[in-house]
Amino acid sequence: MEDPLRNVGFVRMRGPFFAREDAWNAARAVLEQASVGPRLAVIGDFVIPPLNGPPSREFQTLHLDFGLPLVPVVPAEVARFTALYATADTAPSDAVTRLVPIRALVARRRWADRDELLRRFASYGCSHGAWDNSAGYVEGSFARIIEAALGEPPVLPSVKTHPEFLCGTEFTSLAAEAEFFAHRDLHLDSVQIEVCLRPGELLIFDNLALAHGRRGTRRPGELNQRVFGHPALPVEDQLQLRDQVLEAFPPSLRGRKATPEPATGRTLRPGAGAARQVVADKAVP
Ligand SMILES: [Fe+2]
Repeated sequence: MEDPLRNVGFVRMRGPFFAREDAWNAARAVLEQASVGPRLAVIGDFVIPPLNGPPSREFQTLHLDFGLPLVPVVPAEVARFTALYATADTAPSDAVTRLVPIRALVARRRWADRDELLRRFASYGCSHGAWDNSAGYVEGSFARIIEAALGEPPVLPSVKTHPEFLCGTEFTSLAAEAEFFAHRDLHLDSVQIEVCLRPGELLIFDNLALAHGRRGTRRPGELNQRVFGHPALPVEDQLQLRDQVLEAFPPSLRGRKATPEPATGRTLRPGAGAARQVVADKAVP
């Protein structure tokens, strides 16, 4: 049977669902039908933007909810699927959810092999990312994951040197984000899917197969987000999920056998921006 969640990474359900719980029940049914593994827990519920707050920024950079565990060292929350439900009794929104299939995007260029990618992630996490002694390195920004994977001199703002930096503010515009990727032979327009949810509609997507973001402003309360995943995934299972994501990056040397996790030999250092970075990613709708 056709399984769009597995085949294309997302499912859009027109509904309309008039109650939020009806939408979440439908999302749960989709996940169970797709046989995505052990029953997933609800690890996040958000109203976007929060009621009684300001409207959202006019765009949102590409990211993975709760981040990708690039160098996991402790059991941690890992988001597997995100469900977005547009409140039924609200005016239609012009904002669109941007979905970027990671495999399709990165397939268009060559990458270092797995061991070298892991070395680069560890190095980037220490020098430029948000490596935290207690949490290892979890990265939510898709641009930052790409920058780390390429191993070139970083151009994105560093959370190491600017502790006040908030993840998600790497770019001042969508054009700047697109330019960042295009300079690295990654052309978002060629693969990006845009979904404009109407009131009462539901979108479910694979959080590790598609980076996501937003174009347009949302009014307080117009969107609801539920995150399905693992509340305390063991390190070994995090490594497995991370490696599944890395399999999308075609290496320049094929057929090389993966080796066990390399020892970095690094002294882990506190990363003041770590908690801020991960928390910010959790709330990004
Ligand atoms: Fe998000």
